[in-house]
Amino acid sequence: MDFRFNFFPEEDEGTAPRSPKHEHEDDRLPEKKVCIKAAKEHYIPADVNRVLENKVLETVSGLYYVNMSVVELTCQDGTHEEDIVSKSVSSHSDLIPGVYEGGLKIWECTYDLMDFLSEAEIQFANKAVLDLGCGAGLLGIVALRGNAERVHFQDYNSTVIEEITMPNVVANCVNGSNKVDSEDDRKNTTPPSKRHKKSECLPDKLSKCRFFSGGWSEVSQLLLGSSKPCSKYDLILTSETIYNPDYYGALHDTLAQLLDKNGRVYLASKVHYFGVGGGTYLFEKFIEERKVFRSSIVKEVEEGLKRFVLEIAFKDSVYN
Ligand SMILES: C[S@@+](CC[C@H](N)C(=O)[O-])C[C@H]1O[C@@H](n2cnc3c(N)ncnc32)[C@H](O)[C@@H]1O
Repeated sequence: MDFRFNFFPEEDEGTAPRSPKHEHEDDRLPEKKVCIKAAKEHYIPADVNRVLENKVLETVSGLYYVNMSVVELTCQDGTHEEDIVSKSVSSHSDLIPGVYEGGLKIWECTYDLMDFLSEAEIQFANKAVLDLGCGAGLLGIVALRGNAERVHFQDYNSTVIEEITMPNVVANCVNGSNKVDSEDDRKNTTPPSKRHKKSECLPDKLSKCRFFSGGWSEVSQLLLGSSKPCSKYDLILTSETIYNPDYYGALHDTLAQLLDKNGRVYLASKVHYFGVGGGTYLFEKFIEERKVFRSSIVKEVEEGLKRFVLEIAFKDSVYN
């Protein structure tokens, strides 16, 4: 899938690496707060079938997900306050900082992280898991299938949570959804399955899930500041969330606030995001400077633009 970053439209769209035109190009890593968006919890409606109304389901890597082109079409009816589909179309960009952060697409590092979780046989049973910057939410759904005790999903955009994440979670929790038979069929081009038919939901699975939209700082405040603060997460899964160095402070602090003292973050990223400026090494450097976490590369993918999965843990956490 092609992704469009149109931060610097005056630049050549060629394949040569584009220098990140960043305000902070000295050695100090930038810390600019550009993303402030109120946090909100989204609840699954009592009639769960409503979540899948007008959705077309497809499968990838053995999981159901909603066809995003159909969602994009239905979201242009002006009923969504954020109006991110029209804004993304008119700006020719899959990222509009502080407005739309890319969650309507499934980004390729999601698959790297899914592969890693399976290869490394990461155990989810009885764990509290956060899919941070979830978009389609496939990572959280994998955790849910692995019998996680609870799985929380966060995306910047409420439209993404309501139109993509929640429908995907519901689609994978309905009776019979464990029978998706196209395991490992990532390039599944079979026609989308028919429109969703009414089905029985597995309430135990869905009751383990909560959904949040908003900026990272705001969501962590909501999670920790309420009258019944959430306990910390054993695992935080996050893919393609370090493209913009301006968000590193908020992301780092959110991880520090929400991760259990012996928990692990698995973060998948491209080595560099041309035109935006972030990437694996820059984030590792940021982490090192903050002296809170240690990080190590646990998976490298060489094909195309180099990609990595990082494992991040508190410096004083117990080694596995
Ligand atoms: C490029 S998308 C990746 C989506 C998904 N993880 C994937 O791999 O397909 C980046 C995600 O990070 C989240 N995000 C980015 N910056 C954010 C911020 N400052 N606050 C909250 N969420 C943010 C958005 O929710 C967005 O969906």
